[in-house]
Amino acid sequence: MLNKLGDIKSNAQHEIQEADGLSVLESIRVKYLGKKGSLTEILRSMGSCPPQERPALGMQVNKVRALLEEQLTRKQEELSAKMLELRLKSERIDVTVPVEAPHVGSLHPITAVRNELISVFMSMGFDVAEGPEVETDYYNFEALNIPQDHPSRDMQDSFYITENLLLRTQTSAMQIRTMEKQKPPIRIICPGRVFRADEVDATHSPVFHQLEGLVVDKGITMCDLKGTLDAFAKKIYGSDTKTKLRPSFFPFTEPSVEVDVTCSECGGKGCRMCKDTGWVEILGAGMVNPKVLSGCGIDPNVYSGFAFGLGIDRIAVTRYKISDMRLLFENDLRFLEQFKSAL
Ligand code: PHE
Repeated sequence: MLNKLGDIKSNAQHEIQEADGLSVLESIRVKYLGKKGSLTEILRSMGSCPPQERPALGMQVNKVRALLEEQLTRKQEELSAKMLELRLKSERIDVTVPVEAPHVGSLHPITAVRNELISVFMSMGFDVAEGPEVETDYYNFEALNIPQDHPSRDMQDSFYITENLLLRTQTSAMQIRTMEKQKPPIRIICPGRVFRADEVDATHSPVFHQLEGLVVDKGITMCDLKGTLDAFAKKIYGSDTKTKLRPSFFPFTEPSVEVDVTCSECGGKGCRMCKDTGWVEILGAGMVNPKVLSGCGIDPNVYSGFAFGLGIDRIAVTRYKISDMRLLFENDLRFLEQFKSAL
């Protein structure tokens, strides 16, 4: 019996020593000290020993039990500490490790320029008006005094949906919609998409963006037009910028002008961007044709006005030195991401 006890003791001690987890330790405890454990079994079988040996044997069994219990407790503490340490090590957060920057998008160059133009004109007291991209022949042409035989009315030049409906070819349609609704004084801009049946190349796109301006009030003259566009050009291209008006023709303005600004690239000396002229054309404008005013129910003997229309894409192209307009519409992230810091 004593030998058996000795074996149990040394086996148990060995197993405790080797245990590498709390559940293993628990099964060792059950195996030796549990209700059906080998030590308990020895106590139970003590009945078969001679009575004089029993007290000594009982003492030995209790000693072994106490020893194993103590060792189990110690091992348990040891394993718990080890596991805690492992967890602390593996779950440690190093707050000094640089984080991967989140992928942030940015404004498209056209949107950025559009927003800038809007804020410049709003600071001059203009309101923003928006109109439909699908327009009627009346607003896009007829009411703007564009005659039946004008080339832009041709199927080859405009995208017609029905005989009477087309994708607007100019934001000028909003001049009419505004004047029909609102009595002077009027001071609005209308930024938006326009469509023309152009072949795609480095400087043409069938979809592009314009910003229309319209001012109607008593006593508006060409000086107001020149002053407004001069102030605008200085804000967009820099305070040294000069503007110049050249005679032109639009059916809905009379007189009509094209407005040039000194080339922002060379400051007016002449370079590739301005084709050595020192000037870059930025918009078309003019005094609202009295015929257009009266067509909208505004008395041209009392009121006068000016209107202008500029190309947002063209400003974006010159501002960011974009060599090919197609890049603006292809949504290539390698191109668009270059404007992150600029905008
Ligand atoms: N709508 C004209 C164009 O698309 C530009 C313009 C607008 C001219 C307003 C004069 C007045 O070319």
